[in-house]
Amino acid sequence: MAIERTLSIIKPDAVAKNVIGQIYTRFENAGLKIVAARMTQLSRAEAEGFYAVHSERPFFKDLVDFMISGPVMIQALEGENAVLKHRDLMGATDPKKAEKGTIRADFADSIDANAVHGSDAVEAGKVEIAYFFPALTA
Ligand code: TYD
Repeated sequence: MAIERTLSIIKPDAVAKNVIGQIYTRFENAGLKIVAARMTQLSRAEAEGFYAVHSERPFFKDLVDFMISGPVMIQALEGENAVLKHRDLMGATDPKKAEKGTIRADFADSIDANAVHGSDAVEAGKVEIAYFFPALTA
């Protein structure tokens, strides 16, 4: 199976709940290696640029407001089948629909404060990792 990379963001709600370590443990136990990481508070321009694909969606403004509301923890994860493996650990976008034992089922409150982001495909992961960790892809 291919070694892939994917971008993970622990969003402001989960950082505020002090569960970065618990989420990292889930990555590590699943065989995902943290190959780059930084904590930051995103600017509006950074958040808008990151979520540009959603710019026409009705939830865009609320999503950006939420993403800049506090610090986030951003990491690139590497491992076999990393993109899907990470999506499985995250659970469904809406925590009410997320399977028991997933990060969103355990730590997220609502579809708009849903604890984590993860790239949805290998190509998207490359773009997202380059956005936050240009040195890793250079
Ligand atoms: P999306 O890419 O569809 O989900 P995922 O994060 O699981 O890849 O949406 C991006 C983010 O936009 C999502 O994590 C939370 C927010 N969002 C809403 O606030 N309301 C919505 O109805 C949807 C679909 C997403």
